[in-house]
Amino acid sequence: MKKSTRWMLIFSLVNLCMLASGVGAEEKANKAKLLHFGNMGGLMPNLKQSDLPDPESEAAELVFKLCGQCHNPPGPGLHTIKEWETVFWRMYWRMHLMNAQFEHFMVPTYAEGELMFVYLKKFAMRPATVSKVDMEKPGAKEYTTYCSQCHQLPDPQMHTSEEWPKVTSRMAKHMNTMSKNLANQATLTAINGYLQANGR
Ligand code: HEC
Ligand code: HEC
Repeated sequence: MKKSTRWMLIFSLVNLCMLASGVGAEEKANKAKLLHFGNMGGLMPNLKQSDLPDPESEAAELVFKLCGQCHNPPGPGLHTIKEWETVFWRMYWRMHLMNAQFEHFMVPTYAEGELMFVYLKKFAMRPATVSKVDMEKPGAKEYTTYCSQCHQLPDPQMHTSEEWPKVTSRMAKHMNTMSKNLANQATLTAINGYLQANGR
């Protein structure tokens, strides 16, 4: 079976289940959101548009609005460039398939898709080389354990020592909303120490 045919089939099935659950016309969009969020085990962060990089840009607005229709919108830093190359297009085609079922579903044009794709890659996660992390350094163990639960281990060079504590406290919130192992204050302090010693 061709890959695209397989996706079509999966989607028809999902949509059939949705119809079978007796969804009222005006509730369809909400139900779709719940259904998909349920499928994902609720693993998306709780972000405001202002939390996204370059938040006023057209691309950020598109990601916030369009990607937030089925699950909370992710931030571009959740994936590396390489990962976005597959995840993004899976989501893009999913929106187009969804549009066949739901009249008011917002679907990106190809140009809007490109805009989002470029934006996600521009602010993508820059992964650290795990084998090069010196585990003897203070905080290295906490950093490798806690900071690779949702995405690739981030390169400490992504931020300055001033920026890191703000990033890690946002991550602590994500650990809560995304149901991962929580880092207590002592752990966060150790991680900040490691990142600041190895950051820009
Ligand atoms: C039509 C509903 C829908 C829309 C709109 C949607 N997604 Fe998804 N998304 C899903 C579903 C269902 C899953 C879980 C299954 C999967 O991973 O394919 C998911 C999972 C994800 C994941 C986690 C899985 C992974 O491989 O990382 C990311 C990240 C993601 N979506 C990003 C996006 C982005 C970016 C957009 C906007 C360009 C978007 N999504 C728009 C339905 C949607
Ligand atoms: C519970 C899941 C989760 C864990 C654990 C997590 N992150 Fe993240 N991280 C995310 C999500 C979601 C994004 C994208 C949204 C955002 O930027 O807030 C992200 C994005 C990032 C980014 C790119 C965005 C930016 O501001 O530069 C960096 C860097 C980052 N995380 C560092 C860390 C560090 C350091 C840790 C360990 C303390 C960590 N993350 C742990 C979920 C997580």
